[in-house]
Amino acid sequence: MARRTLTFVCQNCGAVSGRWQGKCDACGEWNTIAEESTGAAPQAAGPGKPPRKGRPFALHPLAGSTDDAPRTACGIAELDRVTGGGFVRGSVLLVGGDPGIGKSTLLIQAAATFARAGHRAVFISGEEAVAQVRLRAERLGLGEAKVELAAETAVEDIVATLGEGTTPRLVVVDSIQTMWTSSIESAPGTVSQVRGSADLMIRYAKRSGAAVILVGHVTKDGQIAGPRVVEHMVDAVLSFEGEGTNQFRILRAVKNRFGPTDEIGVFEMTGAGLKEVANPSALFLSERDLGSPGTAVFAGIEGTRPLLVEMQALVAPTTLGTPRRAVVGWDQSRLAMVLAVLEAHCGMRLSSHDVYLNVAGGMRIQEPAADLAVAAALASSLANAPLPTDAVYFGEISLSGMVRPVAQAAARLKEAAKLGFARAYLPETARSEAGDTAMALTAIGPLIDLVGEIAAQGKRRHKVGKH
Ligand code: TYD
Ligand code: MG
Repeated sequence: MARRTLTFVCQNCGAVSGRWQGKCDACGEWNTIAEESTGAAPQAAGPGKPPRKGRPFALHPLAGSTDDAPRTACGIAELDRVTGGGFVRGSVLLVGGDPGIGKSTLLIQAAATFARAGHRAVFISGEEAVAQVRLRAERLGLGEAKVELAAETAVEDIVATLGEGTTPRLVVVDSIQTMWTSSIESAPGTVSQVRGSADLMIRYAKRSGAAVILVGHVTKDGQIAGPRVVEHMVDAVLSFEGEGTNQFRILRAVKNRFGPTDEIGVFEMTGAGLKEVANPSALFLSERDLGSPGTAVFAGIEGTRPLLVEMQALVAPTTLGTPRRAVVGWDQSRLAMVLAVLEAHCGMRLSSHDVYLNVAGGMRIQEPAADLAVAAALASSLANAPLPTDAVYFGEISLSGMVRPVAQAAARLKEAAKLGFARAYLPETARSEAGDTAMALTAIGPLIDLVGEIAAQGKRRHKVGKH
């Protein structure tokens, strides 16, 4: 007789343990272990059950002609850019993001463009009723698009329904946490259910050739809820980000088996849904606070696209024993490193100052090339000297206090020139790579050269102010 087995599964990482514990040994999270009944024990080849005899299959040579992954562009250019040119047939894509960020909105818009292009598109909502989805589509002006809707959560029923008629080109499942399969006894949303439901949808995609998009919730620390294994099971993971109060949204590829992982798509949430932002630099710089100390424009690269963003710093005397260091949109340890270099090599005294750093517009920067812009913003704030408003900064800073070269100098300068900037502070080697440019280039070797210049300007300003 099959015996029901009780297992304890970490709802954060999916690790299985034999007994309940307060802390998961695998990921170190507290209070994440829950009892899950996995139904009958996995069909072990126990006594009385002869092991299945393997079936031989054909092996193929590595050489041979295979068509490129067949893609269907969805027509929303910023989304196509992130996926690498459109949705690949038979692939599964996971879209994660905070609640309310706009996942459902983006995907109903994508489904509608598919339907308008004459492809069959199905939208399965496990969170909202059909009427709600319809209402939203109407508000977005997509009412007439021939998207097929359903509010369903039973994966077996969904797969059976999709199997009828022509194979859909696109299937959206919103969200994977609400789906359940009858082969597993746990409640929807638990690790085993999420994994089991994802597995069924993935198998359906591979078998039928439909592109399947799964929506995934994100926990408070930014992970896609449920087992990390789902991220490993799917072909691509996109993350939809943005500050709640801000209308900009960034779609980022975290993993992509069929395309690049460093591209971003930029959207703006408007009253009529998500709008593509074709020129993000102009948007991120649109509300610049010209002429105030502590801001520097960073000429960055996101994927293949140059992107200008404003780095804002505030350095203020602390009232606490341990000064505060707070960062939004950049790496905390990277800031610690830049601060250490400024103290050790540039004579900046920061140990009695709080330091705040913010990337404007809710953008998140990962490039080390932002070091120079951050250092300039910090020095400018400490010296109370505004930086030139027509200047951009880029360059990595080494622990020895030198500015190191970064890739794609020409593309960064071109974008800056296009947006009306006239000067750039950059690493020495970048000047030769800059090519033809009308901008005034200042190459920085040791970081102290730039910091010294900013400090001197602060002193001059201070003197003039006194008279
Ligand atoms: P939604 O797509 O439901 O988010 P998710 O599926 O990620 O939870 O987006 C909900 C938010 O978007 C909600 O706060 C309202 C806002 N919104 C607009 O600002 N304009 C619109 O046209 C729509 C449809 C939503
Ligand atoms: Mg939603």
